[in-house]
This record gives sequence, C-alpha cells and structure tokens, in this order.
Amino acid sequence: PRMRIDVVTIFPDYLAPLGLSLPGKAQESGLLQVAVHDLRQWTTDRHRTVDDTPYGGGAGMVMRPEPWGEALDHCLDRGPNPAGGAVLVVPTPSGERFTQRVAEELAAEQHLVFACGRYEGIDQRVLDDAADRGPVREISLGDYVLNGGEVAALAVIEAVVRLLPGFMGNPASLVEESHSDGLLEYPTYTKPQVWRGREVPEVLRSGDHARIASWRHEQARARTAVRRPDLLPAVHALSVEGLGALE
Ligand code: ADE
Repeated sequence: PRMRIDVVTIFPDYLAPLGLSLPGKAQESGLLQVAVHDLRQWTTDRHRTVDDTPYGGGAGMVMRPEPWGEALDHCLDRGPNPAGGAVLVVPTPSGERFTQRVAEELAAEQHLVFACGRYEGIDQRVLDDAADRGPVREISLGDYVLNGGEVAALAVIEAVVRLLPGFMGNPASLVEESHSDGLLEYPTYTKPQVWRGREVPEVLRSGDHARIASWRHEQARARTAVRRPDLLPAVHALSVEGLGALE
C-alpha cells in the first residue's frame, strides 16, 4: 500500500468509521492499509490497567508507560518500509495546531502510527522515548478539549487520506478547495434557479467566467474578513466593503 496507518486506543470500536466511506474506499483500492489495536493487549496485570494517578498530584489519571512502550515497539516497526520510519502522531489539546499544511506533510509519509490517549495524557517518557527513535507530532484539532484522541485521529486520518495521490477522482477539486489559497470557500449553488423565493446570484448564470471568478474571490475575501480575520493580512481584515451580504 501507498500508506500504512496503525491506531492504538483503549476504544477500538470508536475507530469503526475507518472501514466506511473515504478510508474504506482507499483500503479497498489497496492504497491504504489500516490496523486498529487495543492498548490493553499490551498490559500484563490481571486487571489490564492502563492508567494511574499523576506524580505531583492533581486531578485525573495519567496513562502508564509500560503498555504504551510495548504497543509502540510493535507498531513503529511494522510499516511497509521499516527502515523508512513511521511518524508517531499523538492527538492532544497541547499539541501544535492541525492545519491543511500539516495534513499535506503527513500525506507525504508512508507510515503513520496514532497513539490515542485520554486527555489527561500519556506519561511523557513514552513520547520522549519514541522521539529518540523517530519523528513525533503532537497535534491539536483546535482550542477545545475532547475526552480522548480517537475523534481527533479520525479527523486527521480523513484529512490526510483524501490527499493521497490517486485517491480523489478530481485533483482540481483539491486545488480549488477551502484553505488551499488561504481564504474560506465562496458560497455555492445548484438547481433549481429559484428555491423558496431565493434566486441564485445572477452573475453565476451569466456565462462570463472572468466576472464569475472575481465575484467568487470577493465573496471568499469578504467571508474570510468576517469569520476568520486571523487568516487575512491585517490591511485586508480592516476593509469592510462587501460585508453586507454576510450580515
Ligand atoms: N484530545 C483531546 N482534545 C483534543 C484536541 N482538541 N485535539 C486533539 N486531540 C485531543
């Protein structure tokens, strides 16, 4: 396969959607190979314990290093090209922000291993040990807290897999989409021409491709200025003409 993905979690059922839709199709086509592993298979005690209280005190539990060490020894060596080296991806609210650029970087890899921990975290020595052997990316979906890394891993995997060359039917739809030009996407319309009294903007029916392109660019810019001014150079964010249509 072009890419191998291993996911280690205490909730393997949470990753069931990987067999559906996009990653499912990529696996059928042989482009992608995904394996989900239950962390508890690498526990050795009778109660299959994966967490313990934090040194130094505080709320919540921390994931113990021993099962993670065994799990990552197993997964990090199992790629199509063991010498090439896997990238360990650790979803955590204290990671670097996940962006389209990070998705593109991960899509260039041959082997990704996701370590899904609960949000209080995995014993830091697990990540330090893995970092001695290869690249580790601690990644945050955004400034909010999920209960564990599973949903974040699903989001990252979907964003990465759809970028694999030979997967998407239409490469132009990748180039044109939101975020590749640094602006939010312009609004889109399809038939019928009038729906519930609302008409599709005239310019889109004009056949004038230059006018359509500049209308779309202006809509994208105005929408970005209102919703995501942080994405614009300061001078553009200050400009407010054309915002009426957005409320
Ligand atoms: N795990 C818990 N919260 C998360 C977040 N915001 N992003 C990635 N992983 C997480």
